[in-house]
Amino acid sequence: MANPVGYRRYSPGTQPAHLHPPYVSSIKRAPTKPLVYLPHTLSEITGPLFDASKVDVKACDLTRQHAGEPLGERIIVGGRVLDENGRPVPHTLVEVWQANSAGRYLHKVDQHDAPLDPNFTGCGHTLTDAHGHYRFITIRPGEYPWRNHHNAWRPAHIHFSLFGPAFATRLVTQMFFPGDPLLPFDPIFNCTADEKARNRLISLLDWETTESERALGYKFDVILCGRLATPWEK
Ligand SMILES: [Fe+2]
Repeated sequence: MANPVGYRRYSPGTQPAHLHPPYVSSIKRAPTKPLVYLPHTLSEITGPLFDASKVDVKACDLTRQHAGEPLGERIIVGGRVLDENGRPVPHTLVEVWQANSAGRYLHKVDQHDAPLDPNFTGCGHTLTDAHGHYRFITIRPGEYPWRNHHNAWRPAHIHFSLFGPAFATRLVTQMFFPGDPLLPFDPIFNCTADEKARNRLISLLDWETTESERALGYKFDVILCGRLATPWEK
């Protein structure tokens, strides 16, 4: 029998640095003392089981949550949720939230001078299927300004929360779009030093997900842990 593989820590630079001064909020949030590593107990290595019958099947289509269709470019975002050995994670909760096509969130804190869309809330959820696949229909989010530094603009992105099989595998991250000219200037995207790891946050234009005369498709696979894990949001 092969020796069991122990817990593998992340390779240096493949996850966001706690302190990344260009991302100004990280200066306040970063720990100033060494982290205390806690041993995993039953409450970390187990998690909630999601009952498919209790999930609103319409929650994965963000374009059909109101009387009319939202403004903007309709897109399909899909992919697989995988564990550190590349095995699919079935029946796990995937949640998304995003700005509308004008770059505005439906949230009281967002007072950016761009219109809200009465037909777009910007939140959705779904469960992966037996093979770890998930799929959302939405609109392409707009870029928006933020006050990190002078003339700061976030690239288009969709926020993701993925639960995985346990509380310890929950991953919160952001998905970006290929070829976005704002990516080199985004302090959040660039919190992860390793370029290969950072680029795991960029979705791929995918013809299998694309539907003719309806919507472009983007593929975004997420690896929850291990050496090839998708960088989390800092
Ligand atoms: Fe955002």
